[in-house]
Amino acid sequence: MLFRALPLLFALLALCAFTVEARPMKGRVLSRRLTVEERSLTNAERMKRGLPPRAPVIGRMLPGRELLFDPTPASKAKRGSPSPSPTPKSFSGRVHIKATNGSHVGFLNNTDSGFPNVDYVGTPSTDIVVKISPSGKGPFDLVATNAAWAGSPLLGGGTNDTLSSDSVVIVPLSNTTHTAAGAPPTSKGASAIWSFDSTTLELTPKWTNLNGSSLVPTIGWHKESNLLFFIGNDSLIDGIQNVAVDFFLEK
Ligand SMILES: *[C@@H]1O[C@H](CO)[C@@H](O)[C@H](O)[C@H]1NC(C)=O
Ligand SMILES: *[C@@H]1O[C@H](CO)[C@@H](O)[C@H](O)[C@H]1NC(C)=O
Ligand SMILES: *[C@@H]1O[C@H](CO)[C@@H](O)[C@H](O)[C@H]1NC(C)=O
Ligand SMILES: *[C@@H]1O[C@H](CO)[C@@H](O)[C@H](O)[C@H]1NC(C)=O
Ligand SMILES: *[C@@H]1O[C@H](CO)[C@@H](O)[C@H](O)[C@H]1NC(C)=O
Ligand SMILES: *[C@@H]1O[C@H](CO)[C@@H](O)[C@H](O)[C@H]1NC(C)=O
Repeated sequence: MLFRALPLLFALLALCAFTVEARPMKGRVLSRRLTVEERSLTNAERMKRGLPPRAPVIGRMLPGRELLFDPTPASKAKRGSPSPSPTPKSFSGRVHIKATNGSHVGFLNNTDSGFPNVDYVGTPSTDIVVKISPSGKGPFDLVATNAAWAGSPLLGGGTNDTLSSDSVVIVPLSNTTHTAAGAPPTSKGASAIWSFDSTTLELTPKWTNLNGSSLVPTIGWHKESNLLFFIGNDSLIDGIQNVAVDFFLEK
């Protein structure tokens, strides 16, 4: 059954999702667990080609990178709207991650890799503080106000992969450049994917595919690699190694 296989397969899927050349062919990849060595090799290859490590399994590679954080990326500066609109009400706080049955999982954790993971230990000092300013029609950007990674502080989906209810393809939660509300992703992903319920404080993603179709994906947490991702159908994750979670702002 796909469910059973998925936990083992996920690590490879997650890594492959970042590189077109390593894209797995559906149905015949992932028949075994990747060794630690293989995982780091993939990243080592990336490093050799001058690319940053893309998978959180590698952890901290470039100490001091957080100093490069740029609070005013050009992509945001360009975002002025032509007609004056009321000052948006902003909400900020940490992101409380709960399993879909409501049980506590942890908080969104700051990482200099740009792939936020789950602080399940309970160390508030490393948690990401986000801000969302919903006004007008969403979805909206989620801005990390204390990002430990370099470049854009926006958090969204990190690739341009297509999510659908019949596919195990995932898009990682990661730092990304600005995209307009409901726009399909660029090759670096899409940012304005979040809606916010000011009563329940839930943050809900909506993913628009390259072909313009959209869906509300499930947020998944792969425990073993401590990676958060989006997937088109929650029935395709097993609930054991991969847990479906919801995000809530904790003001
Ligand atoms: C809620 O879901 C989590 C994750 O699947 C599970 O570990 C936990 O046992 C569940 N709790 C209850 C009360 O069902
Ligand atoms: C959370 O992120 C910090 C770095 O900011 C890291 O040291 C810590 O190990 C992370 N927590 C988990 C549970 O991975
Ligand atoms: C995301 O963070 C990584 C690690 O700091 C950085 O190398 C990359 O350029 C960032 N991506 C964007 C789109 O800002
Ligand atoms: C867009 O892609 C999705 C996912 O593969 C597919 O279900 C949908 O039918 C496509 N829509 C169009 C208009 O091609
Ligand atoms: C989600 O996946 C399950 C299991 O493969 C499948 O039975 C179901 O039809 C899928 N849902 C949709 C909406 O395609
Ligand atoms: C999707 O992203 C990949 C890089 O990950 C890029 O090579 C490709 O051109 C992008 N496709 C589109 C249609 O933007």
